[in-house]
Amino acid sequence: MPGESQTLLKEPFVVDDSKLNIGLRGFPVGTCLTSAVSATEGVSYVGYPIADLADLPCEDVIYLLFHKELPTPEQATTFREDLRSRQTLPDGVLDALKAMPRQGHPMEWFIAGLMLLGMTGKSEGNDYREDALDLVARTSGLVAAIFRIHEGWGEPVSPPTEQPFHEAFAAAMGAPDASPVLPELLRLFYVLHADHGGGNLSTFTGKAVASGLADVYTSMAGAMASLYGPRHGRANQECLAFVRECGSSDPEAVERFVREKLEAGEVIYGFGHAVLRAEDPRARIQYAFAEENFADDANVRTALALRSIAPRVIQEVKPQVQNPYPNVDAVSGSLLNAAGLRDPEFYTLLFGWSRVAGIAAQIVDERTELRDGRGVPIYRPRYLPERQTSRRR
Ligand code: MLT
Repeated sequence: MPGESQTLLKEPFVVDDSKLNIGLRGFPVGTCLTSAVSATEGVSYVGYPIADLADLPCEDVIYLLFHKELPTPEQATTFREDLRSRQTLPDGVLDALKAMPRQGHPMEWFIAGLMLLGMTGKSEGNDYREDALDLVARTSGLVAAIFRIHEGWGEPVSPPTEQPFHEAFAAAMGAPDASPVLPELLRLFYVLHADHGGGNLSTFTGKAVASGLADVYTSMAGAMASLYGPRHGRANQECLAFVRECGSSDPEAVERFVREKLEAGEVIYGFGHAVLRAEDPRARIQYAFAEENFADDANVRTALALRSIAPRVIQEVKPQVQNPYPNVDAVSGSLLNAAGLRDPEFYTLLFGWSRVAGIAAQIVDERTELRDGRGVPIYRPRYLPERQTSRRR
């Protein structure tokens, strides 16, 4: 209903040069049933602010994203059993993973692994909901196997069926240096990263691929290819390097470091966001976890010092920056490292492990729920011919 959607916008939407060739930034293109991102409050899942969900088991959050309500205790038990019954990786996937080139980035392995899951395990007739739940259930086994094979930690191990989702994943991963806090950190990481509105690049890509009626596995591989880029999910592996380069929690040294980076025109990793205009609540929750569990870790201390100093310095040196505040990546790498996952190349893989649930749920919504169940048609935005004047410039 054009009249009705127009009223959802605060101002009339005029397409002029300022709206072209800007990556669709801020364009309203659809509705999202799973989550929403407020510039000042951050993300909420189905209306629940992320801070209210941060202590929940992963399975309850997956249920929320797929069913748009939190489960009762009975529903939670049934859903956990359902996920466990779907989690076994089809034959052939692990052998194919073992044959993959070790120099590939873990995200390249993941993208290939998703295609392998699809080749060996997709439903007859492209049943989006069934495939999406199978995929969410199988992702832990796939990601744990990528860790074990790629890092040389040993033969892949299936996630134990008697443990909760995050503990089963940590057990299957079997990280040799894991701190006892790692499973709880992985639970928190999963819940915080599970969804972030409909328009982030990976989610948007996944839904766009699915709009051509590709299956969930292929669509998710496309989504994860988007997440792999350094402007999107791969930024999280850069954050630990940035914190290490800063290398101090002394306020003067931190301020000097940030100032020099800004003056050299370099990125302040972990600060700023395309949509948010305040500190990301997902960062706030991780900082609290860091203070509680890893207050003595040198990188964590640096990350905490950056949190208190960088926003002021960014505002001073670059007053035009709209959001100088920490985002979800600001401390996540320091936390993962402190908990025993030492290789930053795997941090984006963990982002992918967590984001699969939100993207899968949104694909199901776009294919089977929206427009009274008819689904969103194939994506087809319009590009205008370039004008002579702008070509000559
Ligand atoms: C995020 O989780 O912050 C993102 O996926 C990036 C975005 O929202 O565009």
